Amino acid sequence: MELIDGNAIAATLIAELKATVAALPGRAPCLALVRVGEDPASVSYVRKKEKTAAELGVTSRVILPAITVTQAELEQLIDDLNADPAVDGILVQSPLPTHLDELAIFRRVDPAKDVDGFHTLNLGKIAQEDATGFVACTPAGIMELLTRSQVDLAGKHVVVLGRSLIVGKPVALLALQKKTGANATVTVCHSGTRDLSSITRLADVLIAAIGRAEFVTADMIKPGAVVIDVGINRVADASKKTGYRLTGDVHFPSVSPLCSKITPVPGGVGPMTVALLMHNTIKARRQRLGPTTR
Ligand code: GUN
Repeated sequence: MELIDGNAIAATLIAELKATVAALPGRAPCLALVRVGEDPASVSYVRKKEKTAAELGVTSRVILPAITVTQAELEQLIDDLNADPAVDGILVQSPLPTHLDELAIFRRVDPAKDVDGFHTLNLGKIAQEDATGFVACTPAGIMELLTRSQVDLAGKHVVVLGRSLIVGKPVALLALQKKTGANATVTVCHSGTRDLSSITRLADVLIAAIGRAEFVTADMIKPGAVVIDVGINRVADASKKTGYRLTGDVHFPSVSPLCSKITPVPGGVGPMTVALLMHNTIKARRQRLGPTTR
């Protein structure tokens, strides 16, 4: 069994991106990070995004509207960021508080600044295999992790567990694309799937993105499979200072001995997502600069 080291692969990618940023003409790329409320995971993710941006020489602008912000006020904020020539990328941290219509906010972001890839147009471009679009950071990070771990999906059976807009659906479409590294046969499983383990046992590559701690167990795995664990679940643990530990969607102790390759949690997919966000921000900046600098 080989561990896929997301920290090391992300560090390589970040070093590459740092060189790219340094070579860009004009001002540094600028990313606006919008967070509403104090969801602890969101606070930590936005802090990490801010820190990584600084490390790369990408400017970040953190905007923290009051928890009482209305839909109209938040939409006005997005409109202002869309119109601001100093801003290249806009990210609205999900989940938003429930009084807000998250999908409407995702659709409000100018597709050319949608570095999160949640706008209808950018999701559609994945289906159309149009590389000018922005691919959401987690699915893009998974594909990059596979490529850089020499896992070629061509002809393989990829089974995706979960159909979320943020991970399951886009990663399934990416694995399906007719291009180098992809070209897989893809099955998407979800809460309505019957006899789940009979399907997951057919997977050459299993991508678990259901958000249920240690849901994937050894009996669900074909020996030699590659397992990508997208879950980041907080499980109560009195022995930890924080009172919790992080665990994936995969029961690592029983599953890992069966795999040819597997991502750990933490240190697998997580670090890649931030690197891909920076990649998208640089891409947004470049596309705004125009073709001469590409
Ligand atoms: N919440 C969980 N993952 C993501 C992500 O990739 N982008 C945003 N904006 N929110 C998230």
